[in-house]
Formats: sequence, structure tokens, C-alpha cells
Amino acid sequence: MIHKKYVLLLVAAILVASLAVTGCSKKAPILKAADKHGLVFGTAITAGDIFDPEMKEFITSHFNLVVPENTMKWVNIRPTKQFWNWSDLDKMVDFAEENDIIIKGHPLIWDEQTPGFVNSVKTKEAALEIIVEHITEIMTRYKGRIQMYDVVNEPFAEDGSMLDSFWYRTCGTEFIDVAFRTAREIDPDAKLIMNEFNNEFAGHPKSDGMYEFVKGMVERGVPIDGIGIQMHIMAESYFDAEALQANIKRYADLGLSVYFSEIDVRIKNPVTGDNEAQQVAAYRGLMEAALANENAKHFVVWGFADSRSWVPRAFSGYGSAHLFENDVEPRNPKAAFKEIETVLKNWKN
Ligand code: XIL
Repeated sequence: MIHKKYVLLLVAAILVASLAVTGCSKKAPILKAADKHGLVFGTAITAGDIFDPEMKEFITSHFNLVVPENTMKWVNIRPTKQFWNWSDLDKMVDFAEENDIIIKGHPLIWDEQTPGFVNSVKTKEAALEIIVEHITEIMTRYKGRIQMYDVVNEPFAEDGSMLDSFWYRTCGTEFIDVAFRTAREIDPDAKLIMNEFNNEFAGHPKSDGMYEFVKGMVERGVPIDGIGIQMHIMAESYFDAEALQANIKRYADLGLSVYFSEIDVRIKNPVTGDNEAQQVAAYRGLMEAALANENAKHFVVWGFADSRSWVPRAFSGYGSAHLFENDVEPRNPKAAFKEIETVLKNWKN
């Protein structure tokens, strides 16, 4: 008779082996709570992450959406007009699919991180043609596999008018309509988003200008499913929950979703008890706003660790904006992480 101990060992070995084969990771409590509330909890990732088994394990156990931080930007994916650099993005899409994670495409059309050949385009016709070509190429390749896209990123100026970008100078606002119409035509099931920063609060010129423009898109039948509010915000600034709520609500009235798409809450150095408490309050307010609004159930952070953050490079004198200290073990969840986890666990629908 086989000894009971060996049977148990065999069962354990089979379990471990099947987990390894399916790539199935254990869900962290925060992800279980997010799933329970139908909340999309996501993060930006880098191309290197999906080459690192330990990092993949961390990502799949904590998040149910990933977005490439830089991989899909023109300068990386299409450094010259004819050369498409697919390999990293292909691997990211495979990774998302294998792990049943949503992947968002970011960005299709943006004025930054574009290669030289774009700026040498001179006519409106040629610029629109290149937009159609770009969107068609990417969305055909990943049709049915990338579930949502930032079709146009950051097209507005701070006063709510159109940003003086290459695309706007060359095409007027037509580039936006063409981009969205092309995207819908190529993959009718993908969610199409206009993404922006400093557009959190109703009553702010940029938020209001964007709202009016998007309302116009809906009225003239341009296909759009939602808007992104990036949420690169400052802990020290007044977090106006009411004005955010009013903004979310007016998009709900248009039938559109609102996606918190690139959250980080930066702190002016040094970190003190006071500014950390403000940061925690802002993260809490965002999580509550996401959970409270049926059309805003997306909470996507722009990277999860201070140790490899874009913030200190982009905003001199600021940092400590994310949910963890380090990107590798020991990651050390910060107070903001514990706070949003608590909000999620205790949330009553
Ligand atoms: C940032 C990346 O995080 C950096 O690594 C890169 O150097 C510049 O771009 N709005 C966006 C993002 O839509 O794509 C930007 O990402 C941050 C601001």
C-alpha cells in the first residue's frame, strides 16, 4: 500500500505543476475586492516587466488591467514610417491574454514621443492619411485582443481650447473625428477613449472645454465610449470631490464612461506626516469616486512603485507618488495602498 504521506506529496506536486502550466497566480486581497465590486484596477507596465517571472506574478496577482507605459508610443512602435517594432507589444498582448487581464492601447494619436517623420508631413491630406494608416495597422493586428484604446491623447490646452499640436495645426479638429471613426470601423468592439490631464473638476476651463468638445462629438455622431482623466495630481492641492463628481455625472448623462487612467499623487519633497495624509485622502477620494459611479469603475495607476517613477523626472522637487516604495521585493505597500484596499474591502454597493 502506498503511504499516505506520498499520496499527499504527489497531490501537492500536481497542484504546483498545474499552477505553473496555467500561469495562474494567487489573487492579492486588493484584487479580490476589486473583482467583487466590478472595479478595473490597473497599472502601467514597461516592456521589461513581461520578461521577469517574479514581476509577472506580482502584476497578475494585483491588477486586472495593464497599459503599456511607453511601448505603443510612435517613437517606439513606429520609429520610421515603414518600420513597425511589434515584438514588445506582441508579448504584452500575449501576456494579458494568457492571464485574462484587460490590456489598454495607449496612445494611438498624441503630439509627444513622435518620430521625426511625422513632423515632416506637410499637408492635411497626408497627415490624415498617416493617422488612418497608423490606427488601421495597430487595431487590425490586435483586433479582439486589445479591449480599449486611448484614441486621442491630450488634445486640449489649459484654457480649454485645442492644444497647438502638430495634428491640430495640420488638420484642425478633423484629426480627432477621423481617428475615432477609423478606430470604430477597424474594431467595433473596442472601447474608444479621449484621454487628458488637468481635466478632473467641473468648473475648470480645461475640463469644461473638453466636456463641450466631447458633447459635440456625441451630437455629430463621432463614435466615442468614454473619456480618460489621467489624475496626475498633487497631494497638497485641494481635492474637490464634489467638482469631480459633477464632472463624472455630466459624462454619464451623455452616456459615456469616465476612466481614471494614469493615477499618481505626487508629494512635494520631503514627505511629512501632513502631505502623506493629504496623499492618502486623495487616493481614498479617487477610489470612492470610482466605486460610487457606475460609469467610472476604472482605477488605473501610472506605475506602482516610487523606485521607478516618471514623476521626479517630470515634476522637479516632487516624488513619492505611488502605492509601493520599491518595484522589486520588498515592495512595502504604502499608507495609500492600505487605504484604498480598506475602502475596497469595506465598500457596500
Ligand atoms: C510618460 C511616461 O511615464 C514616461 O516614462 C515618458 O518618459 C513620458 O511619458 N501622460 C501620458 C503618458 O499620457 O503617456 C505619459 O507617460 C505621462 C503623461
